[in-house]
Amino acid sequence: DIIDGRGMTLMPAFIDMHAHLREPGYEYKEDLQTGMSAALKGGFVHLCAMANTNPVMDDEQKIATIMQRSEKLNLCDLTQVSAVTKGFEDDETSFVNFEKIRPLTKMFSNDGKNMGDEEAMKKALVNSKDLDFILSCHCEPETEMVEKYVETAKKVGGNLHICHISLKSTLDAIAKAKDEGINITCEVTPHHIFDYGLDYKVAPPFASEKDVEALLEGIKSGKIDVCATDHAPHSFEDKEKGMPGISNIEYAFSAYHTVFEKNGIDISKLSEMLSEKPAKMLGLNMGKIKPGMEANLVLADLKEEYEINPASFLSKGKNTPFAGRKVKGKILMTIKRGEIKYDNR
Ligand code: DOR
Ligand code: ZN
Ligand code: ZN
Ligand code: ZN
Repeated sequence: DIIDGRGMTLMPAFIDMHAHLREPGYEYKEDLQTGMSAALKGGFVHLCAMANTNPVMDDEQKIATIMQRSEKLNLCDLTQVSAVTKGFEDDETSFVNFEKIRPLTKMFSNDGKNMGDEEAMKKALVNSKDLDFILSCHCEPETEMVEKYVETAKKVGGNLHICHISLKSTLDAIAKAKDEGINITCEVTPHHIFDYGLDYKVAPPFASEKDVEALLEGIKSGKIDVCATDHAPHSFEDKEKGMPGISNIEYAFSAYHTVFEKNGIDISKLSEMLSEKPAKMLGLNMGKIKPGMEANLVLADLKEEYEINPASFLSKGKNTPFAGRKVKGKILMTIKRGEIKYDNR
């Protein structure tokens, strides 16, 4: 098979540090098969699936089962994120068994909930340091929660990661902590830099124009580490009920590329934030093209424009405020370990 890549751009394949695949328990919103097919269409070969499933992913048995199912499907590679506390309980009373779960995953998160309790934060951070995992923390809309985590990390260390930041105030708190030498990283989503002020339910909510400008500065200066998606598919009925979230994994790259290009940020920066940085953080042998690495690659046409069309989504979730919006940059092919997993040439 001859691949005609003339005029096209070859990049390391993408890694999503934050996606909701909804399995088990909410298969009517998404399942591994549809979520991963959508991801491959979007250029992602490795996903970190959040733990807010039903039941919550809070023990080694549940996590092992979903990992096995993912392996059988042979679509994307999976990091099944573990909960921090059993059933996402808010306090330090019910921690998961970090030692038992750690061999199966490198990320722990109570996404959708912030642990306000300082003792709980301390215990989670200490474990993230001792067992070398990423503690992904959901703080916004409360910026003070970042400051609380940072204060605790100052005392006990740990691998602190702040997920889906949307506010200038949060970024400022993270930047200050970085300047002080705290081990802290953070991620953005495509929707929080693609637009502002939209009346569409998502957590955290769409921010203001000045927040988006600050996030773009944070990307340029390297204060923001990772471009994730927070792909959050929902059924039509669940959105009617007011559930937050946007289905975005198949156009995430296009939305990011559109915004980056408009603001004069080089494609190599986007590649670093979609591939190199998350690979490094997760300890994966990919993300940067170097001799001996496995062929995890995407081929993209950076000049092709198209309109976002939920009817064409492979994801079950058609929930997006961006239907009809024009984006630039399209994934043509996704290769995982030498195998063509998506081909739309
Ligand atoms: O918009 C969101 N949806 N934000 C979250 O943090 C959770 C997610 C979901 O699970 O639907
Ligand atoms: Zn969240
Ligand atoms: Zn509490
Ligand atoms: Zn999320």
